[in-house]
Amino acid sequence: MDILQAISGRQSIRAYLNTTVDNKILRDILDVARWTPSGVNTQPWQVVVVQGESKQAIGDRIIAARENGQKENPDYAYYPEKWVEPWRSRRLQCGLSMYKALGISREDEEKRKQAWYRNYHFFGAPVGLLFFLDKKLTTGSLLDMGLFLQSIMLAAHHYGLATCPQAALAEYPDIIRDCLQLSADQHLLGGMALGYADMNHPINQYRLPRCEVEEFTRWYD
Ligand SMILES: Cc1cc2nc3c(=O)[nH]c(=O)nc-3n(C[C@H](O)[C@H](O)[C@H](O)COP(=O)(O)O)c2cc1C
Repeated sequence: MDILQAISGRQSIRAYLNTTVDNKILRDILDVARWTPSGVNTQPWQVVVVQGESKQAIGDRIIAARENGQKENPDYAYYPEKWVEPWRSRRLQCGLSMYKALGISREDEEKRKQAWYRNYHFFGAPVGLLFFLDKKLTTGSLLDMGLFLQSIMLAAHHYGLATCPQAALAEYPDIIRDCLQLSADQHLLGGMALGYADMNHPINQYRLPRCEVEEFTRWYD
């Protein structure tokens, strides 16, 4: 697959076919992603693969926690506390586009909530990936982690697989650590749904625009 097409053709997929992913392909994706560059070759990424019952249990427990009013307790702040322009509008457009594709009105809070909750079961994807970073590392490693996630998404795209990176899965790290019997030494950065896209599902039938190059670039001689 052409690298340029892979970068512009990848999109976040939020509904999946009930087709299992061969563990060999999954391993091949991780095998190529390990060539991602990282500062002084730190290779800070730690990945947990969840499928079947372990994946189901994570979603069930997070949804139960939310329904019980348990507050989110992320290991790090992915988003700013206060949204200002231009990011505020982009965030709004992101949410509105999804709810519009699903035919959910702004007022229908219950349906919106249920749509959001699908995050916690990895949008029904057969594979869930969780990304951890040792808490002894620092901000720079987050750059490496971002590159690593993109490597996984592009490699998956190459194999005809779809993905959705998910910060939502970083909201309740203690629950996930408890489900998987993991130590608190590793910060949970987020997750990723991975599987074969259901392109007939309305949620997969829109794409968000991007700013033009001129809007985010300054050139100096
Ligand atoms: C690190 C990261 C975290 C994200 N978290 C979520 C998430 O929790 N739930 C979700 O539905 N989409 C999530 N997204 C997907 C973004 O909404 C999506 O990338 C953006 O709207 C652009 O759309 P595209 O990926 O289809 O090009 C995340 C993306 C990134 C890069």
